[in-house]
Amino acid sequence: MTHEIAVIPGDGIGQEVTPAAVDVLEELDVHFEFVHGEAGDETQAETGDALPEETAAIAADADATLFGAAGETAADVILPLRSIVGSFANVRPARAYPGLDALQPDTDMVFIRENTEGVYSGIEDEITDGVRTLTRVITEDASEQIAEFGFEYAKRNDYDDITIAHKANVMRETDGLFLDVAERVGEQRSAEYDTALMDALAMHLAMTPEDYGVVICPNLAGDMLSDLAAGLVGGLGLLPSANIGEENALFEPVHGSAPDIAGEEVANPSAMILSAAMLLDHLDYPGEAAAVRTAVESVLDSGPKTPDLGGSASTTEMTDAIIDEL
Ligand code: NAI
Ligand code: MG
Repeated sequence: MTHEIAVIPGDGIGQEVTPAAVDVLEELDVHFEFVHGEAGDETQAETGDALPEETAAIAADADATLFGAAGETAADVILPLRSIVGSFANVRPARAYPGLDALQPDTDMVFIRENTEGVYSGIEDEITDGVRTLTRVITEDASEQIAEFGFEYAKRNDYDDITIAHKANVMRETDGLFLDVAERVGEQRSAEYDTALMDALAMHLAMTPEDYGVVICPNLAGDMLSDLAAGLVGGLGLLPSANIGEENALFEPVHGSAPDIAGEEVANPSAMILSAAMLLDHLDYPGEAAAVRTAVESVLDSGPKTPDLGGSASTTEMTDAIIDEL
């Protein structure tokens, strides 16, 4: 069966790392047909629209999308794209790799972040001059869906430590519901899990990350805790992510368009290539996904490495080394 993959490089280093990931996928024995779409700042300047209808349609029709990064128009591109693929779960692994300087070398955790509601539901108001409000939406359905996804992810990927992050002592109604539903899911599955207040959890993640595996989070908590974990393992050039929907999904590095290094051919392609490995897992190519990860790990350990990792290799040199390892 041939899978159709939408490829949307976007702006800045998205233009450099996305082709690198496609080159890696093309080395594999998989049946992918790549369909290219444009989006981002440059596209907006040319067409007046950061996410043209053709590009939205390509992502909607594809089996999965690879997205690089957008610049200033990021919110106008990535938020609609996540909703076009119906993404309810944002999966953000943070792992330290041998051969690299990480603040916490024993980190290996995955944030399973609710991707549709919470404080990012977009319901904000100006009540009167100088007074604004935000409505935090938590539903039983979305909480159950993210909890089921998180417990299943832990089981499939052999993570023993599962933590449900919340702040139900203060946000009694909203996080009370999130916590109740997530705990119910854990009990129905006879799974072992812990619950943690998200503020104290931030401290524990920084000090003893080795105690954590899968962390199931409401939207904002997942956004912030996963960036904290990114700092523990050595930076943005390494962090992939997946936005998973019922029938579609989008894979992207956590980093942005990096205008400070764009065009210099020095962007680290690892985050994007590891995102492509997550795409392979999602489309049920676990062997190929593992092979890509092993090749990336080997090059992260022994080089050549891009300047952000202390090396002097170009994006292409590092990508070619990863392809050679494959
Ligand atoms: P950024 O992630 O683009 O860059 C932050 C720092 O990390 C920069 O110093 C950059 O050079 C470095 N960096 C990032 N990825 C790297 C890689 N692969 N290799 C080597 N170094 C890397 O975040 P920043 O600077 O806050 O935002 C720049 C632009 O990107 C903004 O216009 C922002 O709106 C956009 N952005 C887009 C996102 C998306 O499309 N999903 C996400 C985050 C930011
Ligand atoms: Mg963020």
